[in-house]
Amino acid sequence: MSTFARDPWTEPPIGLLAELTHRCPLACPYCSNPIDLVRRERELSTADWLCVLDQAAELGVLQLHLSGGEPTLRSDLEAIVAHARKLEIYSNLITAGVGVSERRLEALAQAGLDHVQLSVQDIDPEGCDRIGGYRDALARKIAFARAVRRLGLPLTLNAVVHRHNLDRLEGFIDLALELDADRLEVAHVQYYGWALVNRAALMPTRGQLERSVAIVEEARARFGDRLLIDFVVPDYYARHPKPCTSGWGRAVIVVAPDGRVLPCHAAHVIPGLVFANVKDKPLRWIWQESPAFQRFRGFAWMQEPCRSCPRREIDFGGCRCQAMQLLGDPEATDPACSLSPHHTRIMAMADAEAAASPPTFRYRRLEPASSC
Ligand code: SF4
Ligand code: FES
Repeated sequence: MSTFARDPWTEPPIGLLAELTHRCPLACPYCSNPIDLVRRERELSTADWLCVLDQAAELGVLQLHLSGGEPTLRSDLEAIVAHARKLEIYSNLITAGVGVSERRLEALAQAGLDHVQLSVQDIDPEGCDRIGGYRDALARKIAFARAVRRLGLPLTLNAVVHRHNLDRLEGFIDLALELDADRLEVAHVQYYGWALVNRAALMPTRGQLERSVAIVEEARARFGDRLLIDFVVPDYYARHPKPCTSGWGRAVIVVAPDGRVLPCHAAHVIPGLVFANVKDKPLRWIWQESPAFQRFRGFAWMQEPCRSCPRREIDFGGCRCQAMQLLGDPEATDPACSLSPHHTRIMAMADAEAAASPPTFRYRRLEPASSC
């Protein structure tokens, strides 16, 4: 056994993010999936996923987040959910909610699904279609949400907000109340994957951000007993970075559609990391021993100002992928941090992008991307 396996950072992961497929009927320009999407023919089989769940349960995983792409495009989703239930792992379906019939949802509930998280791109039907690149999406999502509640499943609405829909934030809150959602996640776009490509088209102004903070605070005060509101601010305007994935290789394990295992959904942007595959290596070994998971565990890799900062045990130096993408150095302090020497430049860039007229979207597609 390696000495690292006794390190407290190698406690079992709490959550497994299972990216069952990168296929998706929508084409959101802020999708966190990689630009180089995994095609259907490279996806894990049902038997592979059930084996991953067996290993995850043995490792100590408590929560399974069924994600994509659109996980309901997998016809074996019921079998995966049922297996999670058998293993006593809590299952959460993260879905766009279009093209999912009530009968299918009922089958998933019967298989043991515990929770549904539904993305809503906009409360304006036209805006919803434009962001998702999918016609009549909002009406389908509302029908889906009502079916979720009819079946007695807990519901979270996930509102990804940006310059094009932020001015309708009150409408998102009203919709969550009307649909009897338990939770609303108001998440400003995080700029990875397709969102980084579309950053200038999505970046809100500082004024929009400030208004959104005030709206969320007021809604929490008014509706706190009925609706839990989570709020994720845009990194570039933050004072301190978020503790990305609760620390590298510390709480979350991500399995991509082709079986590669990553410490976070964007880790592929960091050059030199080699991701083991569940088809070749045991999940336990990948979590405890693989070089990719060890790369940013603990604090020894940190540079100043993180290395001597008291907040390093709160935010773990922020996001390694963001440091890589913005500074070309995955060990650097996340430039979202106000203590980073690059923070002012990054903020100025965000302000400039938000002030300019937005470029057209580059939609997320398996095929070469298009704009409209
Ligand atoms: Fe966090 Fe590093 Fe900034 Fe300190 S300097 S607040 S540890 S990112
Ligand atoms: Fe990879 Fe933040 S997304 S560390």
